[in-house]
Amino acid sequence: MSKPFTVAIDGPAAAGKGTISKAVAAHFGFGHLDTGLLYRAVGAKVMAGADAIEAAQALSADDLNVDGLRTAQVAQAASKVAVIAGVRAALLDFQRAYARRAGGAVLDGRDIGTVICPQAEAKLFVTASAEVRGKRRFDELMGRGEAAELAQVIEDVRARDERDAERVVAPMKAADDAQTIDTSDLSIAEAIAAAISAVEAVRGTA
Ligand code: DC
Repeated sequence: MSKPFTVAIDGPAAAGKGTISKAVAAHFGFGHLDTGLLYRAVGAKVMAGADAIEAAQALSADDLNVDGLRTAQVAQAASKVAVIAGVRAALLDFQRAYARRAGGAVLDGRDIGTVICPQAEAKLFVTASAEVRGKRRFDELMGRGEAAELAQVIEDVRARDERDAERVVAPMKAADDAQTIDTSDLSIAEAIAAAISAVEAVRGTA
């Protein structure tokens, strides 16, 4: 087993973090943790009537494997529970342990390079304009057969970014030593290639 190597990938909603993270993890043979899923699972439990902090403290792997966590409603609920310090604290140890697993790990989220893993060997901040991100999310919803209006989806993405970036605890922001990749004008293949080469540059020296 090779030694731990952490890749932190942060950025706003629908910037391409998930696709890029999966591809980077596959390329290097690392594990991948989508940390947004943790907040989505807590958000879904709160929608069902649970207390946010208790739900975060009791979260199990099974809670991440349930259907329906990818909806727009759950995304907003996730963003709302994510402002609660007790929720974030309850999810911290699991994320840090995953980051240092043997064999390497890619974690994607909002605060990975700043709070969860400030010592990550590689840090990327993946972003794109709100219009491009809204359109991508809209196409994704259409692809799944969900009803949506483009203007509303762009508005939802903006509202979520604002809440995620302006909260007091662990706001979304690029770490000072993160490399920013703007995917607005990049194809998926180009964005993945840019991310892999950024990680490769550090991997060679780590
Ligand atoms: O990445 P995502 O869209 O699945 O994330 C859903 C919400 O969870 C996001 O709007 C804010 C929150 N989140 C967070 O606060 N910190 C993270 N590391 C990941 C997600």
